[in-house]
Amino acid sequence: MIKIAPSILSADFSCLGDEIKKVADAGAEYVHIDVMDGTFVPNITLGSPVVKSVRKVSDIVFDVHLMTEHPETHIAEFADAGADIITFHSEAARHANRIIQQIHDHGCKAGIALNPGTPLVMLEELLEYVDMVLLMTVNPGYGGQKFIKTSLDKISILKHTLEDNELDIDIEVDGGINAETSKAVREAGANVLVAGSAVYGQADVAAAIKAIRGE
Ligand code: DX5
Ligand code: ZN
Repeated sequence: MIKIAPSILSADFSCLGDEIKKVADAGAEYVHIDVMDGTFVPNITLGSPVVKSVRKVSDIVFDVHLMTEHPETHIAEFADAGADIITFHSEAARHANRIIQQIHDHGCKAGIALNPGTPLVMLEELLEYVDMVLLMTVNPGYGGQKFIKTSLDKISILKHTLEDNELDIDIEVDGGINAETSKAVREAGANVLVAGSAVYGQADVAAAIKAIRGE
């Protein structure tokens, strides 16, 4: 099943609760929350108090994408704030297997993310422990960037690896996903599609979500 995860990075932060309700009512399965620390990526976005506050407005799945150094120091606070899925970056993790366990111990699903320049081999010993792999399809840090085309091969190789090993985990893609690029990523095997500007930048968010879903 295809799941759409609008990224609040492109939402209007002055009314974040309403912006989350809007995409939940429009049929999105997840809300994607981009946490940037100004070190792992240049930008700074938001922290766990914001997540805790908007948790009150909707039951929708909170898909927290940690773009931070030392992800292990942030798991407990985001789990307590109401995250359902916590994804950390392979590039920031010294003990990735332990971080996955830590996320599970806090009752959340665990995802691991790879930057466009990081090879799939980094996942080899971890695939059987995670619930989701997030393949970045832009370099993380900002919304509204152009989809990196070579990501398509990476998605399909990962999809085949999962099938060959009978692993039922989600492939999430993030960056430059819109009504045009979504078809190719779905065909390559991605099933969780993050979209920021292509959802929040549109007047009709329900139509935008449908278009990305391919309906
Ligand atoms: C980028 C973030 C993305 C971003 C996607 O670093 O991880 O989630 O919001 O934005 P769009 O869909 O506009 O490329
Ligand atoms: Zn993201």
